[in-house]
Amino acid sequence: MPDSAPASPPSATYPSHSSTMVKAVVLGAAGGIGQPLSLLLKTNPLITQLGLFDIVNTPGVAADLSHIATPSVVVGRLPPNDGLKEVLTGADLVVIPAGVPRKPGMTRDDLFKINAGIVKDLATGIATVAPKAFVLVISNPVNSTVPIVAEVFKKHGVYDPKRIFGVTTLDVVRASTFVAEVLGKPAEAPNVVVPVIGGHSGVTIVPLLSQSTHALPSDISADAYAALVKRIQFGGDEVVKAKDGAGSATLSMAYAGYEFSTKIIRALKGEKGIIAPSYVSLKADPAGGSALAAELGTELEFFSSNVELGTEGVVKIHSLGKLTAQEQELVKAAIPELQTNIKTGVTFVAEKY
Ligand code: NAI
Repeated sequence: MPDSAPASPPSATYPSHSSTMVKAVVLGAAGGIGQPLSLLLKTNPLITQLGLFDIVNTPGVAADLSHIATPSVVVGRLPPNDGLKEVLTGADLVVIPAGVPRKPGMTRDDLFKINAGIVKDLATGIATVAPKAFVLVISNPVNSTVPIVAEVFKKHGVYDPKRIFGVTTLDVVRASTFVAEVLGKPAEAPNVVVPVIGGHSGVTIVPLLSQSTHALPSDISADAYAALVKRIQFGGDEVVKAKDGAGSATLSMAYAGYEFSTKIIRALKGEKGIIAPSYVSLKADPAGGSALAAELGTELEFFSSNVELGTEGVVKIHSLGKLTAQEQELVKAAIPELQTNIKTGVTFVAEKY
């Protein structure tokens, strides 16, 4: 099949859009994260249309997924012939795992040069075709790519801070797993909830272990505590190293991305009280954002915290609550790096747009 050929048979065109429908779109859908994430989204009965876009192989991925007997109609498109526009039309949520992953020895910030341009171009497409869609950014470095999406939307006059999310769920998933391991109760992992705040790279990842649903042993040594924090902050490196040049976390990221997408879809459908951690603009909830900035003791445009979701996006940004002295130190270390990362994203758009 030529690259530009549509994956789906002629009958698999989109039904016209209505409020009972949910259209989910994955940009970078043929990649290591994109494929399993698209598979998981295909299993969600609330999704009626699934649009897949990548620069390679989406016809194949879409044809494959389209044989699964779930409600969504799947369409896969490539860049030629307005593929991006077609896929984005009518999107309710757009998940972006497009870009290059890390290799051993690389930090997430090392990816900036390549991924910034990819995210900028895709954000331009969304701002033009589906400006009201909820945008879920997975592409790294998330601390900078989320500001890029925001700046592009500002340029197009369609910025709504309530609708742009950095996906930090994997940090929370890892924290649950690693805490359960420390407790010697792996079976409890799904029930362990640890707020992870800040950003999504290295020291900007701040686990609030004192607020874990499952307390750490009271006699945990300082070394064991420090090792646990470090493992949550740098857990991605374990995967990068084990994959030995073949990429970074894909399957766990797809799981986490799906978990977050599901919460977004439930909120879109009107379910109340849904709370998820995410890296968002503090302007998404001015009151909650100011309270959080006061806790941080500084103004930051973006920060990851627990966020309450509603039909219009962010309803409330939760404050951090009581932090231990150790956690305050971690927050202090995260802030300058976050400031730099945010500035890098903002400057990129200012210079390249
Ligand atoms: P991958 O290389 O397997 O897949 C990326 C896909 O993006 C490829 O299929 C590629 O063709 C596609 N792509 C490249 N340019 C594109 C464009 N202009 N438009 C559409 N698609 C395009 O990489 P993988 O492992 O799936 O990782 C993707 C991104 O997710 C990386 O930036 C990685 O660092 C990030 N990531 C984020 C995590 C998080 O917690 N937020 C966790 C793990 C990875």
